[in-house]
Formats: sequence, structure tokens, C-alpha cells
Amino acid sequence: MNACIEFAFKKAKEKGKELLGVIGGFEGLAKGNFLPLEEKVEGIEKWGGTILKTSRGRHFASAEGRASLLKNIKENNIEGVIVLGGDGSMREGVPFLAELGIPTVGIPCTIDDDVPLTRSIGFDTACNKGIYLLDCIKDTALSLPERIFVLETLGGRTGHIALAVAYGGGADYVCVPELELNWEEMIGKIRKKAKERGWALVVVAEGVGGNMVGERLEKELGIRVRLTAIGHSQRGGAPSFRDRFLARALAEEAVESLLGGEYAIMVGWWNEKVVRIPIEDIKGKKKEIDVEIYRLVNG
Ligand code: F6P
Repeated sequence: MNACIEFAFKKAKEKGKELLGVIGGFEGLAKGNFLPLEEKVEGIEKWGGTILKTSRGRHFASAEGRASLLKNIKENNIEGVIVLGGDGSMREGVPFLAELGIPTVGIPCTIDDDVPLTRSIGFDTACNKGIYLLDCIKDTALSLPERIFVLETLGGRTGHIALAVAYGGGADYVCVPELELNWEEMIGKIRKKAKERGWALVVVAEGVGGNMVGERLEKELGIRVRLTAIGHSQRGGAPSFRDRFLARALAEEAVESLLGGEYAIMVGWWNEKVVRIPIEDIKGKKKEIDVEIYRLVNG
């Protein structure tokens, strides 16, 4: 997100416009919590998180919230808004502002990668962290066998991170909240792997619960289970090359789109290209889990 802010600011400046930061998302917009960015953006593209902070507040849902949002937009001569956020921000936040007559462009930013029709900024970095930990656990497994290792990833109610980490990191099994867990199949496969090489590796999305899966495996198999829950560290750290690339590409496209008169769109990444997606196209859509990858991991 910081890379997005820096490159959007620079592109806007090049085009003779000022990009003003809003601290704390829609809540900040409702409270008039602005941050002039001129002195703040140089070099921030290499930091994790966002200097603008985030909030889960849905200040556009109440009449009072809507009135203060509009008031602040008018009083500050805001001509257009770029919304950085996840699924909820794209589906609800962007259309809300656009319906009020404010040109709005969304940029998908969520490690969960659950925004339809695009790759989201943050996913690649979060997966790299997962793969790194899986590698470290494997080192441990090779020297300290007779254990089953469970790695729990973030992802909220989605399993995109868990699936990508399990596939790319060569785990023996993956559990995601979108697909019903086949206990018999998992226990059979883990038993076989543990017998063959003394250890096994399971990746579990937080929406399923690493603890719950670990406890059941230990009970059924009688082998020690060791859990690593990545937790909120997965949301941080320096962004990967791919995320920075994506952040710059989408940030610059967002500024160009607003200046070109776009009204209610999301800029996204599809088939290795930047695309402009009418926000209507993502309403009511869900990003499905890749079942083929799930089968490749689990067998
Ligand atoms: O939606 C992004 C995300 O990082 C999820 O993967 C995670 O469940 C959640 O946010 C963590 O935030 P909170 O502490 O608000 O639950």
C-alpha cells in the first residue's frame, strides 16, 4: 500500500494534481482526517503496511457518516478518490462514493487476494512469507522427525494464501474454508507420509483453524503435532518485487483513470496486464478457489 501511495502521489504531481492522504480509510474521511503527502512519500515504497493506516469502519453505511463524508469532500475540493482496500472496499466503498457523484477508482489491496477479476497487492509478499516459513519448518522436520507440522496462514474466510503456499512450498495437504475437509482422505495421506519419511506437512487456512486440525490429527494418528501460526506477521514486512511492480502499475493507472474521467471502476491485474474493470462487474461475484491446485496438492 505504501508503494501505491508513493507512486500515485508522484504520478498525480506530474499531472499537476495534488494527492491528499486520508488517515484511517472511510472513518478518516468522515472525520476529516487528512494528511498532506508531499513530505511523506519519498522512499516509503519499501515499507510494509501503510502510512495512512486502515480501519474497518463502514462510515458510508449511516446517514450521519455519509453526510460528514460528503461535507469533507466538498470542503477540501476533492475532485476524485482512490480507494485502496479489499473486497468490501471495492464492492461497497467504491460504488458508494461513485453514487454520490464522486469519481472513484479502487485499487485491490489485500493479502487475502479475494477480490474477483484481479490479483491483489500484498498477496505475493504474504505468500513469500508463508513459503519461507514452510522451508524453515522442513529444515526442522528433516532434522527433528516423528512429528506432523501444521502451518496456519492468514486469509480470513478465504483459502487463497493457504493454497498458494501449500502448492508452491510442496506441503502434503492443504485445508481451506471454501471446500469441505475430507478427514478420512487427509488422515490416510498424512499417515502414509509420516510412515514413509517420519514427518508430514499440512497447511491450514485460519478460516479452518490450525489448532483444530492439529488436535484431530494428533488424536487419530498418535503422532506429535507441532503448530506454527503465522498470524499478523503475514500482513507485514518489505513488499516483494512483484507487489511493488503491481503497486506502481495500478497506482499510476488509477491516477490516469481519474484524470481521464473514469467514474466507478477498479484497476486490476489480469492475464499479466493492467485492466480497468467497471465496479458493476465485480458486484455479486466471488473469487473462487482454484480446485485444480487443491487437487494437485491433496491428491
Ligand atoms: O483481510 C485481511 C486479513 O489480514 C485477514 O487475512 C485476517 O484474518 C485479518 O485481516 C486480520 O485482521 P483482524 O485482526 O482485523 O481480524
